[in-house]
Amino acid sequence: MAYTIRAATGDDVAAIAGIWHAGWHDGHAGHVPAELTAIRTPDAFPPRAAARVPRTTVATLDGRVAGFVTVTGAEVEQVFVAAAHRGGGVAALLLAEAERQVAASGHTTAYLVVAPGNARARRFYERQGWADDGPVDYAAEAGDATIVTECRRYVKACEATP
Ligand SMILES: CC(C)(COP(=O)(O)OP(=O)(O)OC[C@H]1O[C@@H](n2cnc3c(N)ncnc32)[C@H](O)[C@@H]1OP(=O)(O)O)[C@@H](O)C(=O)NCCC(=O)NCCS
Repeated sequence: MAYTIRAATGDDVAAIAGIWHAGWHDGHAGHVPAELTAIRTPDAFPPRAAARVPRTTVATLDGRVAGFVTVTGAEVEQVFVAAAHRGGGVAALLLAEAERQVAASGHTTAYLVVAPGNARARRFYERQGWADDGPVDYAAEAGDATIVTECRRYVKACEATP
């Protein structure tokens, strides 16, 4: 399918938040502390999505958002695809764009953090050439505080194309 990759805008926040909320629970429920799952309610995602618009890229199909990725420095912070679009290659397009952005900002190694039990995401990252770099404690946003979760760090070398 012919997906379009473009920078997110404020008009995309509701769609991004909906995909993020559903995908977050698909990938994390049962794999992170229950107190973190409990606060990841639908209302929790629009403000978090709005704050990340300048760092977010969306994939659209027929004008509708099918998935998104957020890049912060060398970190690929979020890769989320709507359930109806999984398995169709759009996740690979988003991740490749994220790697391009990391390299373009001068970093030579991109990294991301994934819950150990998120088997589908880990398989996906490994197929895209990412390597498990070991355990890492990740401080997940929890209002004004954080909840530390045991995760895996994945890395991939990236070079800016001239
Ligand atoms: C992670 C995500 C972006 C990957 O996109 P995708 O379109 O599903 O990826 P693909 O289907 O191309 O690849 C997934 C791989 O996992 C495999 N897979 C599918 N379902 C699986 C499952 N339940 N358990 C383990 N592996 C699974 C697929 O077969 C494929 O592996 P293969 O290429 O070796 O056959 C997408 O699944 C998603 O948005 N998930 C929810 C949000 C999430 O967890 N994001 C990552 C946060 S770190």
